[in-house]
Amino acid sequence: MLIEFRNEPFTDFSAEANKQAMVDALRLVEAELGRTYPLVINGEKIQTTKLGRSINPGNKEQLVGQMSQADKEQALAAIAAADTAFADWKLVSPEERAGYLFKAAAEIRRRKFEFSAWLVYEVGKNWGEADADVAEAIDFLEFYGREMLRLAAPQPLTPYPGEHNQLTYIPLGVGVVIPPWNFPFAIMAGMTSAAIVSGNTVVLKPASTSPVIAAKFVQLMEEIGLPAGVLNFVPGSGSEIGDLMVDHPRTRFISFTGSRDVGLRINERMAKTNEGQIWMKRLIAEMGGKDGIVVDQSANLDDAATAIVQSAFGFQGQKCSAGSRAIIHQDVYDEVLDLIIQKTNQLKVGPAVTNAPIGPVIDQQAYEKILDYIEIGRGEGRLVVGGSIAEGDGYYIQPTVFADVAPEARMMQEEIFGPVLAVCKAASYKEAIDIFNHTEYGLTGAVFSSNREHLEYARDHMHCGNLYFNRKCTGALVGVHPFGGFNMSGTDSKAGGRDYLLLFTQAKLVSEKW
Ligand code: NAD
Ligand code: ALA
Repeated sequence: MLIEFRNEPFTDFSAEANKQAMVDALRLVEAELGRTYPLVINGEKIQTTKLGRSINPGNKEQLVGQMSQADKEQALAAIAAADTAFADWKLVSPEERAGYLFKAAAEIRRRKFEFSAWLVYEVGKNWGEADADVAEAIDFLEFYGREMLRLAAPQPLTPYPGEHNQLTYIPLGVGVVIPPWNFPFAIMAGMTSAAIVSGNTVVLKPASTSPVIAAKFVQLMEEIGLPAGVLNFVPGSGSEIGDLMVDHPRTRFISFTGSRDVGLRINERMAKTNEGQIWMKRLIAEMGGKDGIVVDQSANLDDAATAIVQSAFGFQGQKCSAGSRAIIHQDVYDEVLDLIIQKTNQLKVGPAVTNAPIGPVIDQQAYEKILDYIEIGRGEGRLVVGGSIAEGDGYYIQPTVFADVAPEARMMQEEIFGPVLAVCKAASYKEAIDIFNHTEYGLTGAVFSSNREHLEYARDHMHCGNLYFNRKCTGALVGVHPFGGFNMSGTDSKAGGRDYLLLFTQAKLVSEKW
């Protein structure tokens, strides 16, 4: 009997045994750095001559791995393999399909520290952030496995005399899964496993800066016995093979998580019907955010400042859920700002391997973009913390806070995706909510208040997919806080929620007359 879903607990690194296990895992993984990984098409491993390099963003000299790069022909072969495999996979029972996810979850749980260590090296997550990413991957596998079993059970229909009626959720076909690098294990494994457990076959194109952890997952799925062709792996440049896979007539759906601009490009291309295509393609898109925290006069100001700092700077602000805006009532503005400054000043920047609270940003491009935004911030607000690069051999930037930023400023409107917080003063609580809503995104938000009327006003008026009261706006838990946003934050698919698998299926009704 399957036990009820519960979230994977986070590791307590203050316990000596866990600390030691992590140190051991980092050492073990360090010995494996620099290896070369193949494409996987229909179970066949293909080493290409063209290789991509995944480097440690906190130590630019350290090569994490070299990744074979699929060209157009290989991308086409992967779609063909997935298309062929679909004929059998769609007939595999939901119970058997779910079983693969449960086995994968069990294996990841056994090797938890090892997977966390890969995330520390490949994307610069500190230990706690890496552990949370691995825990979320386990959660997605456990949750979607159970969700498939729930959907496979008889679905309620209104009884009708003389007929037997049955509704089943059948898969769509070949899905192209395009994940981001910022939750390179959890989101990648979640998107992929949701598609597979629903009976679809997948072509997975990982993000170029985090392909090794994806290769490890693909390898694990092979080890637990997933049939060849169900999961095909084609690392490669988004611009080189992305369009081809999106446009392909046999691609039935795309599951994308990433930036607004790439999401919109995919959306536009998918709207065009190509020769040989016999369906309207489906897009599941989870995109960017310009999230924020509102603080009113009645709030616990210390708690609010702690949450603002955690939400702004967790994983260096590189979360779609990051609270990059703090909108504070004028009566408590100075006090909260002082607390934010104090708490931000306590954050040390350093290598993720040493478990520094703030690690590097992901790559040169992000580094330059964030530093450009800091320059923009100097013209738009008052710099009160940080404002420059930090020491080290990687892409280190000081956590940075700008005060007195106006609602229309670019710092308040555009997703920076780095350790930069804009603080804005509001003349009233309602104005604070209006300022919060005044972006094109709508992913996460939080309110700190002890005023029930204010909280209820926020419930009705703050337009975001994940709204939190008196807590940070990051850290959604699978099953507990289904995650996804409005407007330019995507198609409001709720990852880790009960609607999610429906997006990967179509409902078939069979009616038999007695
Ligand atoms: P990105 O858009 O640059 O890349 C996302 C993926 O798209 C990568 O795998 C990339 O290789 C691929 N890609 C790039 N160009 C492509 C093309 N032309 N065709 C097909 N694929 C292409 O985003 P990123 O930098 O990897 O991730 C950060 C972004 O993701 C941020 O905007 C963040 O807010 C968003 N994000 C959203 C969520 C959510 O749940 N809403 C979660 C995590 C990240
Ligand atoms: N699901 C992640 C969070 O809530 C992005 O922070």
